[in-house]
Amino acid sequence: MSKRLTTTAGAPMPSNDTSKTAGPRGPVLLEDYQLIEKLAHQNRERIPERVVHAKGWGALGTFTVTHDITKYTRAKLFSEVGKKTEVLSRWSTVAGEQGAADAERDVRGFSLKFYTEEGNWDMVGNNTPIFFVRDPLKFPDFIRTQKRHPKTNLRSPEAMFDFWAAQPESVHQVTILMSDRGIPTNPMHMNGYGSHTYSFWNNDGERFWVKFHFKTQQGHKHYTNDEAEKLIGSTRESYQEDLFNAIDEGKFPKWTMFIQVMPEADADRPDFNPFDLTKVWPHSDYPLIEVGELEMNKNPDNYFQWIENAAYSPSNKVPGIGYSPDKMLQARVFSYADAHRYRLGTHYEALPPNAPKSAVHHYHKDGSMRFFQNDTGNPDAYYEPNQYSDAPVADMSFEEPPLRIDADAFRHEQEVTDVDFVQPRALYAEVLNDEQRHRLHHNMAAAMGPCSQPVKERWYAVLERVHPDYAAGVRKAVEEEGDVNAVPVTEDTPVHAK
Ligand code: HEM
Repeated sequence: MSKRLTTTAGAPMPSNDTSKTAGPRGPVLLEDYQLIEKLAHQNRERIPERVVHAKGWGALGTFTVTHDITKYTRAKLFSEVGKKTEVLSRWSTVAGEQGAADAERDVRGFSLKFYTEEGNWDMVGNNTPIFFVRDPLKFPDFIRTQKRHPKTNLRSPEAMFDFWAAQPESVHQVTILMSDRGIPTNPMHMNGYGSHTYSFWNNDGERFWVKFHFKTQQGHKHYTNDEAEKLIGSTRESYQEDLFNAIDEGKFPKWTMFIQVMPEADADRPDFNPFDLTKVWPHSDYPLIEVGELEMNKNPDNYFQWIENAAYSPSNKVPGIGYSPDKMLQARVFSYADAHRYRLGTHYEALPPNAPKSAVHHYHKDGSMRFFQNDTGNPDAYYEPNQYSDAPVADMSFEEPPLRIDADAFRHEQEVTDVDFVQPRALYAEVLNDEQRHRLHHNMAAAMGPCSQPVKERWYAVLERVHPDYAAGVRKAVEEEGDVNAVPVTEDTPVHAK
């Protein structure tokens, strides 16, 4: 026998398809409360989409430690080889809205929530090891250039390249974005990076600077602009389809986790700032150290509940993992939880995807959607300090070692110097081969084709500082392709019946 349909208050429902009317032709009665309830629920089915990274795909899975890194960190999730931790992943594009096509040229978000026994650790990274800007004051402006123009309501290549040309430190990341890696075929065929320098601290109170890498075991696969355009013409949801179907068919995607480690005292050694988010750490100086394996093996039963409600934040860290002086990182520690309170509500951490698997005892109190029980475990202990021996108390043994900062606080403007072009130059001239450079030139030309000549010239000047062949190659490709948006519409297509 099928289950009985009920109202949200649990009463049996006599009908779910016919409203209550005064006669067969209507009108409906105001007392048909379940009609009103149904319409009212529909009106509240959407929450604000994420201000960035709105389009996403996610899964549940497991992280398994394969190598011992306990000399670097006391984090419980790494405490022994073989240890398993449940993980919730979410991958995303940055600029597109929730309904945007998946196979667009953009940076991809790579978020992992590790449900460890000492709380949740969120690794909120990207599929690129670096970023466009290194000062958080520039982030909202940068994002504005990626979103829609206020008047045309269209994406604006003019704004993108105008901004990048004024921030030449962005050229490293723009090069990656315009390279083959700019359109992965789906999340399974791309790497993930923590991008920032974070820190680890061990049981002896020693601190290490660390970078996180998740390397795809499926191999890198990417679309060219032409392939992506054709694909988007037939499906806009290619990532969701690929990921969901792979997991549904038991073809579980995997990544190998590595770290790069720098002793705390070595931060002055590299000839670049190791906390600058526009720089990588050369693998020759800081080799990859293997840590474990990530396997995503379960599709959530309800996308909205698990992926739309997922609230990732760099502020979620566990004992043994800390921040670094990277100023972008400090801004992110504030920004994400603020976004979640707005998007999901005060008690977003209690929602299923965000609730830790470890015990939660805090003194935060009421507010909308306060649906969980008293967190202190003792109803009299609703303030602190208090007289109750069973009430939760803080434990200084979890305090991380002091972070040494030698500083006069003022606005340290970071000038763009030759150091900013060393790494993009090496990427352009030494890492990419001729064919990859050719595609880079043409991808960039396609992206900047619609820009005005002054903006193009300013961007060529930035490329020139990377490598003269880079500037010349992109200039030539722009000239060859012309203004890619200036394709005339030659015939009218009627859309109304005569
Ligand atoms: C100052 C710099 C940044 C600020 C202020 C910032 C802010 C934000 C905000 C407000 C969101 C939306 C959160 C939500 O509503 O759930 C977001 C999402 C995201 N950001 Fe950032 N962001 C910054 C830089 C970065 C960097 C450098 C990375 C990668 C290394 C990154 C990766 C992500 C990812 C992956 C998401 C989506 C998280 C998810 O899957 O739900 N962001 N960011």
